[in-house]
Amino acid sequence: MPSVPTFGAAIYPHLFTPIRLGRLTLPNRMMVPALTTSFAEADGSVGEALIHYLVERAAGGFGAIVTENIGVHPGGRVMPRMVMADDDRYIPGLARLAGAVRDAGGVLIGQISHAGRQTRSSITGQPLVAPSPIPCPLNREMPHELAINEIERLERAFVETACRLAVSGFEGVEIHGAHGYLVGGFLSPYSNTRTDAYGGSLDNRMRFLRNILRGIKLRLGDDFPLIVRISADEFIDGGLNVDQSIELVLRLEDEGIHALSVSVGVYGSFNKVSMITGEPEGQWLEMAGLVKARSHLPIIGVGRIKRATVAEAGLATDKIDIAAFGRASIADPHLPRRVLEGREDDIQCCLGCNVCLGRSSRPEIICPINPLVGREDLLCRAGAVITARTVVVHGSCLAALTAAWVAAVRGHEVIVVELNGENGGMQAWRARVPGQEEHAEVLMAARRRAATAGVRFLAETTKATTADAVWRVRRFEPIDRRRLAAGAGAVSSYDVLAGRVTVVPGSRLVAIGDDLSIAEAALLAAARGAHVTLLASGPSIARDAHPGYREVTRRKLRQFGAEIATGSESPADTDVVVVGHDPALNYDSPDAWITPSGNATAYVADAYEPGVFTAGVYKAVTLALAFGGPEPNQA
Ligand SMILES: Cc1cc2nc3c(=O)[nH]c(=O)nc-3n(C[C@H](O)[C@H](O)[C@H](O)COP(=O)(O)O)c2cc1C
Ligand code: SF4
Repeated sequence: MPSVPTFGAAIYPHLFTPIRLGRLTLPNRMMVPALTTSFAEADGSVGEALIHYLVERAAGGFGAIVTENIGVHPGGRVMPRMVMADDDRYIPGLARLAGAVRDAGGVLIGQISHAGRQTRSSITGQPLVAPSPIPCPLNREMPHELAINEIERLERAFVETACRLAVSGFEGVEIHGAHGYLVGGFLSPYSNTRTDAYGGSLDNRMRFLRNILRGIKLRLGDDFPLIVRISADEFIDGGLNVDQSIELVLRLEDEGIHALSVSVGVYGSFNKVSMITGEPEGQWLEMAGLVKARSHLPIIGVGRIKRATVAEAGLATDKIDIAAFGRASIADPHLPRRVLEGREDDIQCCLGCNVCLGRSSRPEIICPINPLVGREDLLCRAGAVITARTVVVHGSCLAALTAAWVAAVRGHEVIVVELNGENGGMQAWRARVPGQEEHAEVLMAARRRAATAGVRFLAETTKATTADAVWRVRRFEPIDRRRLAAGAGAVSSYDVLAGRVTVVPGSRLVAIGDDLSIAEAALLAAARGAHVTLLASGPSIARDAHPGYREVTRRKLRQFGAEIATGSESPADTDVVVVGHDPALNYDSPDAWITPSGNATAYVADAYEPGVFTAGVYKAVTLALAFGGPEPNQA
C-alpha cells in the first residue's frame, strides 16, 4: 500500500477513523453507494465485468462497497441487465463476487430492491406492481395494486434475498427504501394511498419495510449489518419531507438497523438524485445533519461528494458518519488510496455529467473521465508494445489527452502539441461558462495522468518532430450554417464560447437554437453583461443534454437576467445574432465537423456536449490501443 500511509490520515483524521456497523468495523469513512452498472450477465447472474469493477474499488481503498440494487423478484427488475438474487442459482456468482472483494481487502454490502412502479413491463415481463394504482409520472404505466397476500410474498422475497447474500459471503445488506422504488413507494404518501394496514399512518406505510427488517433479523440475527436507504426529502408534492423522514428514522432505530443512508428524490424529481455539474458539492449534507441531530444511527451522506475536504467537513461538523462517493468512485476507483497517500492532485474527478446514467448508446455505464470503467484490466491485457513508436498529437482536448495517456502507458513515445488558443479543446471553452468551471479541473487531471505516463507537452511553435503517426483533433460543430449565412454579422455559439467574438456589456444579443452550446453561449454572454434572449423552437432548451443541464442552465440564465422565449426570428434592434446547432446534422454528417489542415494519420474527436465528447474519448482509447499492435479484446 502507500509509501507514506499516514499522510492523508493526518490531514483528514475523521475520514480515516474506523467505524463500527453492527459486527463490522469499516477501516475508513469512505463508502461506495449503490450504483447500477448493467454489468450483470443477461440472465442476471454476476460475471467477470462486475467482479472486476467492484474489486477495483475495494483495492482502491473504499472502506465499504454497497453493490448496485440487486433484484428480489423478476417483477421488480429495473434494468434488463440487473443483478438478480431471487433464486439459489445465483448464489455461486454472488459468492465469487463476495470472495473477490474480500480478497481485495473490501467489505461488500448488497443493496436489495424491487423497482415497483418505476420500471417498464417490457423489462419485467409482467405487469408492474405498487402499493397503489398510480403510474410513475415518467414511465406512465399503470401498476397493479398489490393485494395483501402479494405484499406478504414480496416481504418474504426480500428476506430470502438477504439470506442468499449472507450465504454468499456478503458482509451486510442495505434495503433500498429510497428513490421511489417499491419500499420507498410504500413509505411515501405520494405513492401510497392505501386505506388498509399498509397505508395511511406512518406506522402503516412502514409496515412493508418493518416486516422485511424483522424477517431478516429473525433469519440472520441481530448483529447482521443492516442498512436502510431512504429519500429523506422526495422533492415532490405530497412526498416525504425531512420532518416526516425523521419520524420514520426514529422508528427504524427501534427496529435495530445499524446505519441509515440518507438520499433524496424519486423518479418525478430525479435531477435531485445525481446532481449535475454546477450544482453544489456535498449538496445534501445539511439535510443528513438534520437527521443525524435526532438519531443515534450512523448516518451515511451522499450527493456530489467528490473531494476529501467536503467529506471531512461533513464528518467533522457531525452531519454524517460516513461519506458516500457515488459517481466519484466511478470516475476514480482509487480515490481513497490517493487521498491517503497525499496524492489528491492525481484524482480523476467526476465531472457530474451523468453520462454514466445515460442508457441510449450502450446499456453499461460509461464515463469520459474513466473510459476503463467495467474493463479495468484493459490496459493490462493490452500489455506493453513490442516496438515503441513515436506519435505526435496535435491538440489537447480530453479525447486527445486520453489517447496520449493510453499510448504512453503501452510504451510509445508520445508528444502532445498544444495548439495556441485551443488548449483543452471545447471543454476549456466550457470551463468559462458560469457553473461549468469543473471542466478545467478535469482537463488538468487528464493532462497530469498523461504526463505521469510519460507524455511530453510541447508548444505549437516548437520545431516539428519526426513521428510514426500524427493524430489531430477535429471538432464536432454542427452549426446551422444556413441561418449563420442568412443573418448579417451572425456568429456561432462556438464563436462566443471560444472567445472568438467579444461580448460587449449592454449589447442586445439573441441566441437561436435548442442545443446545449447555444444555451451556454447565451449564459456566458449574459454573465458578461449582454442583454440576452434565448430563442428555442419549443419549451425545452439544451435538448441534446442531460435534463439536469436543462434545469441548471435555465436557472442560471434567469439569475443573469436572460430571457428565454420560443421563436426563431431576432428582433430588429438586435446587435448580435448567435446561432446554435442544426438539428439535421449528426455525428455521421461530414458537414458537422471542423477538420484541421495538415497531414494526419488519424483524427481524435472533440465535442461540447458530454455524451458526444464521451464517444470521442472511447474512440481515442481504441485508436491508442490499436496503434503499433493489434487491438486487444475490449469486451
Ligand atoms: C449510474 C448510477 C446508478 C445508480 N444506481 C443506484 C442504485 O442502484 N441504487 C441506489 O440506491 N442509488 C443509485 N444511484 C444513486 C447513487 O447511489 C447516489 O445516491 C447518487 O449518484 C448521488 O451521489 P453522487 O453525487 O456521489 O454520485 C445511482 C446513481 C448513478 C449515477
Ligand atoms: S460519467 Fe460523468 S457523472 Fe458519471 S462518473 Fe463519469 S464524470 Fe462522473
